[in-house]
Amino acid sequence: MSNAAPDSIPAAGAPSTTSASGETEDSGRFERFAGTSGYIASRGLVDAVNCALALQRPLLVKGEPGTGKTLLAHHVAEGLGMALDSWHIKSTSKAEDGLYVYDTVQRLNDARFGDGDVKDIRSYIRLGPLGRVFSSENRQVLLIDEIDKADLEFPNDILRELDEMQFTVLETGDEVIAKKRPMVIITSNNEKELPDAFLRRCVFHFIDFPDVEQMREIIDVHHPQLEKTLLEQVLIKFYWLRDQKELRKRPSTSELIDWITALLRAGANPSQLESEIPFVGALLKNEQDTRAIEQFTSRGGTPPNSFEALKSLRR
Ligand SMILES: Nc1ncnc2c1ncn2[C@@H]1O[C@H](COP(=O)(O)OP(=O)(O)OP(=O)(O)O)[C@@H](O)[C@H]1O
Ligand SMILES: [Mg+2]
Repeated sequence: MSNAAPDSIPAAGAPSTTSASGETEDSGRFERFAGTSGYIASRGLVDAVNCALALQRPLLVKGEPGTGKTLLAHHVAEGLGMALDSWHIKSTSKAEDGLYVYDTVQRLNDARFGDGDVKDIRSYIRLGPLGRVFSSENRQVLLIDEIDKADLEFPNDILRELDEMQFTVLETGDEVIAKKRPMVIITSNNEKELPDAFLRRCVFHFIDFPDVEQMREIIDVHHPQLEKTLLEQVLIKFYWLRDQKELRKRPSTSELIDWITALLRAGANPSQLESEIPFVGALLKNEQDTRAIEQFTSRGGTPPNSFEALKSLRR
């Protein structure tokens, strides 16, 4: 358990002259994220990451499923040259799990079978993700993924630790104080509203669904060898599908990437996509949606073959 003094860590927003990374705030300098080659980030998203870095506040990222919220944390860590620790939130997650867990079962077992020093409670304290990044000698990125999965109280329960960057291990009285203030990235799919007090402490960014041009760049990251005419057909069919009002769940970026992988593995050519959508199961994930497309084709409908045709359908 770390008892080390903080590296002059200012509480977020508190007047201070030295940041956790040791740079003076007067200089107006902070570690900046400039993107990575493996992640296509809009200007607004890069600005939001840098705003969070400058303010030393958590970045809350929302957006449709599959729009790269989780992946962002990996690439912010890569871009900043920091390690990433992740806390994947479940419906049963509790704030305390992120701090530490006292492994009473192990202690009981050791007491029963005579292993280990059961008097030393510290050896049974297992740090959670927040505890680990606080204890790290190096500044880290902490991903708190899908915060809206937990109960309503969860965000409020981690407010204090995120603000103060410290907590006490009740069983030992040890203080765990962040040596370097981590860059915290929190994702949400909007399943639940987050409390105002929590939102007030975050920098917020909503990842808009990529337009066609941005999607070309994203596809290029994952499938740089994709032939241009196949790429065009893929994009036309994908955006046409997303336009279909009757779909319950519109396919997302991650499904598009999977679909292209399937097409490439099957050796699909652009002409195969002209009148049908092969491997539709990679894109549509429930029977009502697949049935809706089947009915469309059985009525003699064909998806558009060009962006002009797609545009005219939208008018
Ligand atoms: N901007 C992007 N640049 C590169 N790849 C992307 C981008 N956005 C999405 N992807 C692709 O989509 C996949 C899904 O991204 P990710 O898992 O981060 O989405 P998510 O928003 O966290 O989804 P969910 O809400 O379902 O958890 C990535 O593995 C990647 O293949
Ligand atoms: Mg995710």
